[in-house]
Amino acid sequence: MSTPKFIVIEGLEGAGKSTALKAIESYLSEKGISSVVTCREPGGTLMGEAIRSIVKDNTIDEKIDSRTELLLMYASRIQLVENIIKPALADGKWVVCDRFYYSTFAYQGGGRDIDVDIIQNIHDASIGEFKPDLTVYMDIDPKLGLARAAGRGELDRFELEKVEFFERTRDMYLKLVDTSSEMKPVDASQSIENVREQVLQVLEEGALF
Ligand SMILES: Nc1ncnc2c1ncn2[C@@H]1O[C@H](COP(=O)(O)OP(=O)(O)O)[C@@H](O)[C@H]1O
Ligand SMILES: [Mg+2]
Repeated sequence: MSTPKFIVIEGLEGAGKSTALKAIESYLSEKGISSVVTCREPGGTLMGEAIRSIVKDNTIDEKIDSRTELLLMYASRIQLVENIIKPALADGKWVVCDRFYYSTFAYQGGGRDIDVDIIQNIHDASIGEFKPDLTVYMDIDPKLGLARAAGRGELDRFELEKVEFFERTRDMYLKLVDTSSEMKPVDASQSIENVREQVLQVLEEGALF
């Protein structure tokens, strides 16, 4: 039995993260790995899901400071890491998570333009050195991703942002790909089948087993 691994999927709205998560689950199952915990950020715990509702709420009639948003993301993340992810790995289970801290660097650092050093300090104080073994970054033009996401129904507080916000977010994601060796990009603009093949290729090459 290989040691359990922690896999993350990242990308803009409509990139195909939820679709990829299902493909990864079936792939792991075919590999004989039946104990898999899936989760999402923000969320995944009682506190985290409450935070998710607040940060995505598009009806709050109050300016939400970018630093408040940043701290809420880390509050949710601490709950998830300490109560779900670490215990699952310790118990021999694999973990696949829809978004993780790269989203914070990309959205709050890139999109909201918060100084990356500030985020790094909060990161270090919150989860320290804890990292995924592999992160699949699904790269997509924001216009295409948002068009796909629009098909899901009402837009949340993030999805209502201008396209420039997502361009800055994508630029930061691409910088992270350059500096984070565990982060592997796929071209998410391709067909569902082609993207699935790319994602599974990244897992094959990830030396996870
Ligand atoms: N490669 C693709 N080509 C076209 N449509 C896609 C592709 N991947 C996902 N979709 C569709 O786009 C929408 C958003 O995909 P989803 O997996 O929910 O993205 P995310 O979780 O990243 O927001 C869904 O309706 C999904 O079926
Ligand atoms: Mg999704």
